[in-house]
Amino acid sequence: MMKQVSVFLFGAGGVGQALLQQVVNGRSAIAARNQCQLHIVGVADSQSYAFAAAGLSDAQLKEIVARKRAGQPLDEPGGTRPSDLALLQLARQSNARPLIVVDVTASAGMEPLLNEALAQGERVVLANKKPLAGPWATAQQFFHHPRLRHESTVGGGQPVIATLRYLLDVNDSIWEISGQLSGSLGFICQQLDRGVPFSQAVSAAKGLGYTEPDPRDDLGGQDVMRKILILARMAGWPLEAADIRVESLYPVSMANLSVAAFMQRLPELDEGIGARVQTAVAQNQVLRYVAHVSAAGGSVSLQALPATSPLANLKYISFRSHLYDDEPLLIGGKGAGVEMTAAGVLGDILDLVRETV
Ligand SMILES: NC(=O)c1ccc[n+]([C@@H]2O[C@H](COP(=O)([O-])OP(=O)(O)OC[C@H]3O[C@@H](n4cnc5c(N)ncnc54)[C@H](OP(=O)(O)O)[C@@H]3O)[C@@H](O)[C@H]2O)c1
Repeated sequence: MMKQVSVFLFGAGGVGQALLQQVVNGRSAIAARNQCQLHIVGVADSQSYAFAAAGLSDAQLKEIVARKRAGQPLDEPGGTRPSDLALLQLARQSNARPLIVVDVTASAGMEPLLNEALAQGERVVLANKKPLAGPWATAQQFFHHPRLRHESTVGGGQPVIATLRYLLDVNDSIWEISGQLSGSLGFICQQLDRGVPFSQAVSAAKGLGYTEPDPRDDLGGQDVMRKILILARMAGWPLEAADIRVESLYPVSMANLSVAAFMQRLPELDEGIGARVQTAVAQNQVLRYVAHVSAAGGSVSLQALPATSPLANLKYISFRSHLYDDEPLLIGGKGAGVEMTAAGVLGDILDLVRETV
């Protein structure tokens, strides 16, 4: 029998829009392969929302994407957006079940919504890392929850979380997780290999849209810290953010500049990083922004690695464990961008649907 599924999307940025397009374009294939109809009953951004209890039509979903791309609100101007919790109650008026609440915002403070959805028996999919990377006291209920998935929070669509979940399922004990977990910093480091000064590498990454609009959001290392913290917590180590030592690639003195002023002053950092590149190259090594974590804590920093190390390649995650003791389990490949992330979210939605009887 064809399952009828309600989905309410919080967040209509790059990932949210890509997800809506994937649902519209893949609708018949998804229905045929998974025996389910996905009804996107609602979409909310930070200021506005659209809702239809029976599901928004494909024409309405395309209109939503077009509106967001044009910088317009999702509803008519002047409408008031209910609170996140009120939107959840609206979503629960839809008939089709399961109801899957999707958080593809980049926001802190989504926990009350997610907790309430789970408490009401609904299902949750996250691409947003923040609820999983906050204080352990508020984050722990999201780990290993049978009705929550978060594949896209680490690895940008590569099956990193699924692999770790598998290792835990077969009672493997994880010893260490390492990763080159940022596409933008991986790109910048590869530019450094080629002798490009740091400031030019950052400008190029920004110009290509690989960094956030403010590149300090990538260079500061907090996003990578959240990813390795999520993996650590999954592995069974209840660490806090403070247990991960983070090397920021810019000094505190440049933290409060405007983006334009920061970009202008970036060449001040070229000499220091250039010297580290030269030292690495002289030893046949490359610099990479690498995360490591074990039960005792972790680090996120620029490190010199042998040029032949798997971690020297763009996007790689390595698990060392009891089963993979002498040779680590490696996962690598393209893992960045909104399409891959949205695909990971769609995979999570279908995974939850499959588990619903
Ligand atoms: N981009 C990637 O390649 C990638 C990869 C892995 C993971 N992720 C994660 O995926 C998430 C989404 O990324 P993105 O690139 O799509 O971000 P984005 O373009 O900044 O979009 C965020 C969206 O969330 C909306 N929003 C904020 N608070 C909200 C709330 N309370 N309720 C509903 N919507 C709210 C924003 O609304 P407005 O439009 O009104 O501002 C915006 O539409 C982030 O957590 C990111 O870390 C992204």
